[in-house]
Amino acid sequence: MLGDYVSINPGVTVSGVCRIGRGVTIGSGATVLDQITIGEGSVIGAGSVVTKDIPPGVVAYGVPAKVVRPC
Ligand SMILES: CC(C)(COP(=O)(O)OP(=O)(O)OC[C@H]1O[C@@H](n2cnc3c(N)ncnc32)[C@H](O)[C@@H]1OP(=O)(O)O)[C@@H](O)C(=O)NCCC(=O)NCCS
Repeated sequence: MLGDYVSINPGVTVSGVCRIGRGVTIGSGATVLDQITIGEGSVIGAGSVVTKDIPPGVVAYGVPAKVVRPC
């Protein structure tokens, strides 16, 4: 499920069935694993691997991606 105004940048992989909320930005080359939910308005940093659900309104990055701050 892909919400409105989602920005998926070059080289992103979204695996299997994921829920990408409204206004999410997924940075270049990031990978989102199967069954993951990314909450509304969150930003996933370039090159990240998202292995757990990400709440709304945060910036998360790294391998595995960790929440680092609110947006
Ligand atoms: C995550 C992002 C939004 C910025 O987050 P931020 O919290 O403002 O990060 P900062 O630039 O202040 O950097 C803070 C620290 O996080 C690190 N960092 C930033 N982005 C990172 C990422 N994607 N992965 C791993 N570490 C990252 C920085 O190296 C810095 O580390 P340091 O404290 O050891 O120096 C940005 O770096 C990013 O990845 N944006 C996606 C860009 C993109 O793909 N655009 C597409 C254009 S085609």
